[in-house]
Amino acid sequence: MEQVETLNKIEVCNLQKCYKERRAKKRFHTQCEAQEDCRVLDGLSFSIPAGCFVCFIGPSGCGKSTMFRIISGFERPSGGKVLIDGNQVTGPSNKHVCVFQEDGLFPWFTARQNVAIGLGTNSNEAHVQETVDEYLELVGLAGFGDHYPHELSGGMRRRAEVARALITNPEILFMDEPFGALDFVTRLQMREEMVNVHQMFDMTILFITHDIDEALQLGDRIIMLSDRPSTVAWDMELDFPHPRDLSTSPLKEIRKEIYYKMGLHVAL
Ligand SMILES: Nc1ncnc2c1ncn2[C@@H]1O[C@H](COP(=O)(O)OP(=O)(O)O)[C@@H](O)[C@H]1O
Ligand SMILES: [Mg+2]
Repeated sequence: MEQVETLNKIEVCNLQKCYKERRAKKRFHTQCEAQEDCRVLDGLSFSIPAGCFVCFIGPSGCGKSTMFRIISGFERPSGGKVLIDGNQVTGPSNKHVCVFQEDGLFPWFTARQNVAIGLGTNSNEAHVQETVDEYLELVGLAGFGDHYPHELSGGMRRRAEVARALITNPEILFMDEPFGALDFVTRLQMREEMVNVHQMFDMTILFITHDIDEALQLGDRIIMLSDRPSTVAWDMELDFPHPRDLSTSPLKEIRKEIYYKMGLHVAL
């Protein structure tokens, strides 16, 4: 395959996605209704350098998860392409890992067994135990390895999922609203931990959130998508140290600008 010289880890080039509208059903076999297309992505283009923590925001249903499935290789675009390290994405890779909003732990495995899945089957038992314990400790789950998912809180289950993702040593970590279902305080703690994780591991993180403050606190960059059919509405670098205080300038003004751009004037 042709290798394109690029400094960027990810190049998204003019991505298009159309779904066939499923609701248009034939009522009689003689009647043939034209299927309407649902255009989700319309010429989405951006580049992401290696090691960047990018937060994506945008209206609900605009195509953020669809975009993730395409970039991570689980779904094909209707047009355009995605390059990772200069190679066109044609399917999923074990160098990339996804964490979704829904619980993704196997309920019949303990936290330790769930995290160990990330190591695959090639390692010896002693190495697996040692490494899994190291990652459980890293995410604040030391001592909870033998608990089953139903014996853990929502935040702890998320931590176990993050540990399972990190133990694979991914080059790219995709996170689709990973903390959306958590309570406010736990969400704040998880944000802090994601900042630490990004500083400790050499990886590119793509993070979807509906929470503007979360994006401002985490991102090296925020990409805002427009309403469907989606394109990039706004793209901004956030070169500010952590931890970030959103009540001070210039983050306060950037936050305000994002709210305005999303049409949320009353929330200010
Ligand atoms: N597999 C699918 N088949 C048909 N339509 C889909 C499919 N996946 C997503 N869609 C539609 O694409 C649009 C964008 O969905 P999604 O990517 O989940 O948005 P977001 O993550 O931004 O909320 C929605 O209108 C949704 O109904
Ligand atoms: Mg989504």
